[in-house]
Amino acid sequence: MSFLLEYIKNPRLIGAIAPSGKELTKKMMVPVNFQKADVIVEFGPGTGSFTRDLVIRRKPSTALILIEQNKSFCRELRELLCNQPNLHIIHGNAENVCEYLAKFGYDHADYIVSGLPFTSLPTEVSNRILGATQKALGGTGRFITFQYTMLKRKFFERYFDISHVLKAVKNLPPANILVMKNKV
Ligand SMILES: C[S@@+](CC[C@H](N)C(=O)[O-])C[C@H]1O[C@@H](n2cnc3c(N)ncnc32)[C@H](O)[C@@H]1O
Repeated sequence: MSFLLEYIKNPRLIGAIAPSGKELTKKMMVPVNFQKADVIVEFGPGTGSFTRDLVIRRKPSTALILIEQNKSFCRELRELLCNQPNLHIIHGNAENVCEYLAKFGYDHADYIVSGLPFTSLPTEVSNRILGATQKALGGTGRFITFQYTMLKRKFFERYFDISHVLKAVKNLPPANILVMKNKV
């Protein structure tokens, strides 16, 4: 219910009427090498669909930085995830990811897992987020995001190389998971 209420208040920023389902969550985790990741960032965790799996599957030493612009969702996440080591819940903007990484002493993220609604966000906001994401990934990081259509593929390709696309066909609606890296 909290998700639907927040959507009604701000449809363009929330971008969906309900949290992501299990199949999409499972597929979003496939590209992540949890044994090797030292720093994982999540953009737009919402009520924590992907976050729960990230928390369970990461090594205890892996830092997990959640960046969520919605105050109510941040409150829910804090209740859900209290006492988790190396977990930072930031009520902030994905545009400022480099600033948050620096604050915790990291120069890049190994993975940025995104639930952001790029289809409904204003183009200039998406541009700023993707520019910051490029910087935050450094030479080796991966950017993982889902899209219900591939209409934005060219838009992402302005910033990144798409290494592969996974499909969550049982998700409603079916979703594509794009795995991206900085251009060489
Ligand atoms: C479609 S919901 C996804 C929530 C969750 N990841 C899921 O899949 O169920 C998008 C989320 O992105 C957040 N969001 C939108 N713009 C943002 C921004 N610039 N920075 C951080 N979070 C943002 C919204 O508040 C919302 O929680």
